[in-house]
This record gives sequence, structure tokens and C-alpha cells, in this order.
Amino acid sequence: MIRNLSETLLRLKDLKKDFGNFTAVDKINLDIYGGEVIGFVGPNGAGKTTVIKMIARLIKPTSGKIFVQNTKGELVDLNSKLNIFNYFGFLIDQPFFYKDTTPKEILKYLAKVQHYPKKDINERIDELLKKFNLFRWKDKKIKTFSKGMKQKLGIAQTLLMDPKIIILDEPQSGLDPKARIEIRKLLKELQLNGKTIFVASHLLHEISEICDKIALVNKGKIIAFNTIENLKRNLKTNIIECQLLEPIKDKNVIDMMIDLLCPYLDMNVTTELGIKPIVFNSNNYDLGIYFDGTKESMSEILDIITTKFRSEMKLVSFAQQRTSQLERIYTELLNEYDDNSSSIITSEGDNIAIAR
Ligand SMILES: Nc1ncnc2c1ncn2[C@@H]1O[C@H](COP(=O)(O)OP(=O)(O)OP(=O)(O)O)[C@@H](O)[C@H]1O
Ligand SMILES: [Mg+2]
Repeated sequence: MIRNLSETLLRLKDLKKDFGNFTAVDKINLDIYGGEVIGFVGPNGAGKTTVIKMIARLIKPTSGKIFVQNTKGELVDLNSKLNIFNYFGFLIDQPFFYKDTTPKEILKYLAKVQHYPKKDINERIDELLKKFNLFRWKDKKIKTFSKGMKQKLGIAQTLLMDPKIIILDEPQSGLDPKARIEIRKLLKELQLNGKTIFVASHLLHEISEICDKIALVNKGKIIAFNTIENLKRNLKTNIIECQLLEPIKDKNVIDMMIDLLCPYLDMNVTTELGIKPIVFNSNNYDLGIYFDGTKESMSEILDIITTKFRSEMKLVSFAQQRTSQLERIYTELLNEYDDNSSSIITSEGDNIAIAR
């Protein structure tokens, strides 16, 4: 099926949010076209939920604006819109449903507060529940539902008013692989039906399969926005991958290495991507060195590591990496955020770790 991408439906313009003197979202610019599926991907604390909350008008931007398309096809300030329910369908954080209610009761209530035409409500609810394979659970209490089923109901309710854009915040979070596959299938189906979707996630691999474009976000800034293919092409960096025998005990060693190896390193990764040019992954004892790509530098780096850092690290292998760099860079972002990011990676059985 060929999907027609139309004009801009949602525009984030210099969007900024400060909490006290901490900037959570730092002048983000983003245009989302009709029919596009955009993955908003970044590590914990990158600012994804904060952006979504601003779109949902749950919190106010410190500065900048959000524009949406009006019925005449013009972009207007979101604040000038009284009702945003038939424009957006939101799933923010884990959906919370009272445990003694049923899907039918929940959707009926939401349809009522969002002014869905009364006579069509029952038909619409059945249609949605069938689409999400929840029809036989229509009158069952939420307390009997699995996490995946609750999540599906959460996505189903975003479609209730047939909104122009569906905004999902981590729809696959906390789900087992089987449930994640099911959610991915559902999103794929919505995509093929021409829905415009903006989906925040920290699972790059999962999300990249269903997205037309990925906006990589780190520390409140969009560091790249493109199709996966172009991201892979553009984010070409030269990395030496060193396998170490043991973990590095003293964290200051990395900074000392950066100081000493500075003339050979690719410092652009810090300014452009917000990561250090040398990154150690304590899960697999892998040391990544972003360098200028020349053989001479490689030789110098090897010499310095094996002489000056002989007592701090035992080298098992040293080679220029030849696989896709996108997953690698993304993994570095996760590691930068938290050295204990292994919990993020292993608890979700993540493919990113394997892709390294
Ligand atoms: N109400 C608030 N007050 C103060 N700081 C906040 C508030 N909300 C968010 N932050 C901070 O803003 C930053 C961005 O948070 P946000 O929830 O948007 O990140 P996220 O990308 O959604 O992360 P996650 O993947 O963990 O959901 C974090 O450092 C967070 O602590
Ligand atoms: Mg979040």
C-alpha cells in the first residue's frame, strides 16, 4: 500500500521547558507530516515525556510554540484550539484504569467526556475492541487483565475520536517480548492505514521497524532526525572497539585517556551527539574509542593504551568496528545516562546490546 504523506500536521518550534534552573527540553524543532510515523527515541531523562506533556497541554512550555493544522490547512498555535481530543489521541506513561471497571465502561466514559456522538458510541466501542483483539474481554474487569492487554486498551482509547495524530509514550514499556511484538504489529497496521503516529521510546531497535523517521533525543536536544537509512549513513563515525579482559576499576581512567589521546580522537561526537569520545561499557567490558579514522592515529592509540595504561586495562582485542554505528551510538547514549543501564538493556531482552 502506498501511503501519501501530506503537509505538516504538528510543528514544534523552539520548544523549551525548564524546571527551575534545569533545562529538560532545549529548543526542540520538529515537523510531523500527515501519514508519518515518527519515533522519538532517547535514553531515560532525555525529555521525551516532557515534550509529550507539552503537546497534551498538561504542562506549559517555558518558551517556544506548538502549532497544529486547522481545518483550512493552516498551522495555528495549539493554544488557540479549544478542543484537542479529535486532533490528538494520547497514551502518556502507563495507562491507569480502575481495577473494578471494564473496557466497555472505560471507553464509554471516555467517549462521553470527549463528546462522541451518543448513538454511535456502542458500535465504536465494539469496533475498537475487535480491532485490538479485546472484544471477548469487553465486560471483564481490568483486574483480570495482563499488562499487555491494559496497554492495548490504552492504545485503543487513543483512537476513540479518530484523531489526526496518535501520540504514544513508551507503548511497549514493561511488556514481555510476545506482547511487544503484538503492540508493534498493531502500530504497523495503524501505519499502513495512514495514521500519523508520534511514538516515544528508548527501544531503538523495536521502534525503528515501524517508523518512517527517528528523532534521536538526548539531554533535551534533538541530535538527529531522519530516516533510519539516512541516520545510519549520516552517523558514520570511526570507532575502535577494544575488548578488555576485566572491568576498568577507576572511572577517572577514561578521562585520563581522553586527555592523552586527544589529538587522535573525534571530539565532534561530544558536540554533536553529547557523548564522550571514549566510552566503556561495563556490561561486556567493551571500550569504544571514537577517532579520526586514520591508520596512523590507530597505531598511536594502540601504543599509548598498551604502554601508559598497561596496569589499568588488559587488552584482549583492538579493531576498527565495521558494523552499523547507529545502534552503537545509541547504546553509548544509554550508557552515558547511567552506568547501570544494564538494567534497561537486559530486563527488556534488548537487541541493541546484541547489535554492538
Ligand atoms: N515536574 C518536574 N520537575 C522537575 N524535573 C522534571 C519534572 N519532570 C521531568 N523532569 C526532569 O526532566 C528530565 C526529562 O524528563 P522526562 O520524563 O521528559 O524524560 P524521558 O525522556 O521521558 O525519560 P524516560 O525514558 O525515563 O521516560 C528528567 O531529568 C526529569 O527528571
Ligand atoms: Mg518518559
